Amino acid sequence: MAESFDVPLVEEEKFYLPDPSYKQQAWTKDYQKAYEEFLADPDGFWETQAKQLEWFKPWTKVREWNYPYAKWFVGAKLNITYNCLDRHVANHRRNKVAMIWRGEEEGEERILTYQKLFHEVCRFANGLKKLGVAKGDRVCIYMPLVPEQVIAMLACARIGAVHSVVFGGFGVNALNMRIKDAEAKVVITADVAIRRGKTIPLKTIVEEAVVNAPSVEKVVVLSREKENPVELHREMEVDFYDLMKGVSTRCEPEVMDAEDPLFILYTSGSTGTPKGIVHTTAGYMVGTYYTTLNVFDLKDTDVYWCTADTGWITGHSYVVYGPLCAGGTVVLGEVTPDYPDPGSFWKIIEELGITIFYTAPTAIRMFMKVGEEWPNKYDLSSLRILGSVGEPLNPEAFEWFYKAIGKSRCPIVDTWWQTETGMQMITTMVGEPMRPGFAGKSIPGVVADVVDKSGKPVEPGTGGFLVIRNPWPSMLRTVYKNDERYQKYWDTIPGCYTAGDLAVKGKHGYIMVIGRADDLIIVAGHNIGTAEVESALVSHQAVAEAAVIGKPDPMKGNTIKAFVILRVGFSPSDKLKADLTYHVRMTLGPIAMPSEIEFMDKLPKTRSGKIMRRVLKAKEMGIDPGDISTLEE
Ligand code: PRX
Repeated sequence: MAESFDVPLVEEEKFYLPDPSYKQQAWTKDYQKAYEEFLADPDGFWETQAKQLEWFKPWTKVREWNYPYAKWFVGAKLNITYNCLDRHVANHRRNKVAMIWRGEEEGEERILTYQKLFHEVCRFANGLKKLGVAKGDRVCIYMPLVPEQVIAMLACARIGAVHSVVFGGFGVNALNMRIKDAEAKVVITADVAIRRGKTIPLKTIVEEAVVNAPSVEKVVVLSREKENPVELHREMEVDFYDLMKGVSTRCEPEVMDAEDPLFILYTSGSTGTPKGIVHTTAGYMVGTYYTTLNVFDLKDTDVYWCTADTGWITGHSYVVYGPLCAGGTVVLGEVTPDYPDPGSFWKIIEELGITIFYTAPTAIRMFMKVGEEWPNKYDLSSLRILGSVGEPLNPEAFEWFYKAIGKSRCPIVDTWWQTETGMQMITTMVGEPMRPGFAGKSIPGVVADVVDKSGKPVEPGTGGFLVIRNPWPSMLRTVYKNDERYQKYWDTIPGCYTAGDLAVKGKHGYIMVIGRADDLIIVAGHNIGTAEVESALVSHQAVAEAAVIGKPDPMKGNTIKAFVILRVGFSPSDKLKADLTYHVRMTLGPIAMPSEIEFMDKLPKTRSGKIMRRVLKAKEMGIDPGDISTLEE
């Protein structure tokens, strides 16, 4: 891991304090008090949260900590969909809107009440059963951001199948690797995704991706193109809605053990193969429910929009499970921030009366660039709380978001967390003073810290590694089929979970997250492994060796730059650069495409042959490469 970095200059004394009414009405009224209560009795704290939900059988023990393995709500029996659906259908929320979906075209809208969503989930769950899907089976979901994606996820959870959602922007190889690693029995997809007025053929990608994946028995296809319906290969493929025909609108929830896996979600790692992060049922449910209520301060009257795709952890935790457990009204948008024009998000906020809006710094910086005239065309007065996630929210972007969108009225929760943490871990709770540039403090329930390599807390103002000192309910339980990789999270720095991020603790105890300490690149909030892009490049016939670095970018946070050594017989050309970029696009997907490729004769390596990306990066940025004593020659 990288050791030292320059601490960015920020005005530490600058803060914004929201109107006191926020604090008075919040679920967590007094952050300090709540935090102290948690510290005094961590198990009691989490038990109080868990008791707000419904269980088929209560736990015998809140937590069992067998370093580095944790169990939460030991012995309890439950089904998360019972808390997302049945619980609400049985009370005043039965006819409440659970989900509003918006498409790109004018007038494209679908509304599902809790009752309707409940029926659709049960029907699809019964459909999956017809295909022979049972508790513990893995189901891969590769779909656009449509209600059916959420229905598919919940239907899996209903019957105890483990879903592995793969973001619809991934390419053939990325999908194939994920299907194979999870040994998925069924893949659920759609004919197309729609983006900026164009259709993206998802099913064609699935057809290629299942070729070398013998575990796959069936592919379920949602047909969206009514005029040119996609043809199904009947031996292998079945239509999404055909599967739901003639089945009951009731499906008894599978009784799950607290520690039964709920889902696997792949995230980039330091090798070419992604890590299957495993989340289990009870702890994940309690963690996401608690944070949805207390970080977003979600109320029954809120209309909540998280712009993330369900294919990422943000979508899992804060589009699907957290808000639905809390009985919220969730907006789902298969939309992009700049299509058909940069007012598309603001139009939705006005029309639906959104009160809580959760998005990514990349989008905020794009909005800043196009100017305030776009949000100013719309009435944003319904907004109550703003949120940010995925990468550092730089002070300039904070100020703009706060003033241009929140009209200096709405608190911003800049939430730091990860696929691995399952839930939000660090933020500035609603009502507390907000310091631009700093995400905030550990939320009650979490003990985050910034430490040196030995685990000792660093002095205020000094940089170090971001760690978590205590187990928390929604923590990853393992890396699928790779306990060794899991243990690495806990033994890199003794006694704590190493997040892999570099951070600074300010003198007010607020944490500023700087970026990754390892070979992951956060591009527009998406986690990309250098090794994944490198192996994609090397799989091209012209490439002998490749090294990839993240290059700071004012809009996207980082962009990808690749250094490539060609095989004998190939010569550098712009055409080849374009071919290589296209090759990465087809292999991994558009999100992993390098924005720059440079051809090299030689790459900087250690004497043992490891590529020193740090040296490439320093050269690229014109900075000191640090210790290069291990550099070959
Ligand atoms: O580097 C941190 C960055 O995103 C990483 C986690 O990525 P992923 O697992 O894809 O989950 C993203 C959504 C939770 C972290 O290790 N990150 C996430 N949120 C923030 C952040 N960096 C700075 N500030 C944040 N608020």
